[in-house]
Amino acid sequence: MHHDATAGGHRHHDSTAATGHDGPRHPDVDEETARFWEEHYGRHERVWSGRANPILVDVAGQLPAGTVLDLGCGEGGDAVWLAGQGWRVTAVDVSETALARASEEASAAGVASRIEFRRHDLTRTFPPGEYDLVSAQFLQSPLEFPRAQLLQAAARAVAPGGRLLVVEHGEAPPWGRHDHAHAHFPTPQETFAALDLDPERWDTERLDAPHRQATGPHGETGHLVDNVILVRRTR
Ligand SMILES: C[S@@+](CC[C@H](N)C(=O)[O-])C[C@H]1O[C@@H](n2cnc3c(N)ncnc32)[C@H](O)[C@@H]1O
Repeated sequence: MHHDATAGGHRHHDSTAATGHDGPRHPDVDEETARFWEEHYGRHERVWSGRANPILVDVAGQLPAGTVLDLGCGEGGDAVWLAGQGWRVTAVDVSETALARASEEASAAGVASRIEFRRHDLTRTFPPGEYDLVSAQFLQSPLEFPRAQLLQAAARAVAPGGRLLVVEHGEAPPWGRHDHAHAHFPTPQETFAALDLDPERWDTERLDAPHRQATGPHGETGHLVDNVILVRRTR
């Protein structure tokens, strides 16, 4: 799917190769991953609720706006909210469909100039640079993928004084139990341990698992457990 960069914020491709899942193979994207997420987004007109994730809002809302890297940005709810708060956002996802929708939302919200959308399969390539905030919101998948390595790369992308915020399902969401039948849901402590952070260089600001009521993709209400891992790079 092609999206006009001038109408929908900055789209950046790291390769000149075509990237659509029906198009030629992309050397930096795992085909099964791309197919899975294209199908996920293709099943619905739009999964985007227009709302940012509440824990991100809570955390980022208390920080001065800076640069932020949104990993697995999906349809852009967080990226658009962050840009509206004055952050300069780099928003990354493997799904072309999700990125195109996110880009349209950014334009509609008038914040496209503050967001750079980039397509990456984060298990293959990772955006360069250091950010004041790196956010991974529900960067989970029923597919096997090297999540620990990915989260370690996320930590390496944090600038001195900056933060990494990981929010993840602590148990299968009620509306996705089938999808997640074989997935492992870590404790916040397990995810924190997998980051393998040097305690001399990192402070832990949050390591908890609050429960909340939430509305699912089809309007159903359910009980969710969110693991929250918030760490600050001291130097
Ligand atoms: C569960 S969704 C969460 C989306 C969004 N962060 C949110 O909170 O609504 C996971 C997202 O990660 C993306 N994703 C999964 N594997 C990825 C990979 N290897 N590289 C980049 N993005 C990936 C998917 O396309 C999807 O948009």
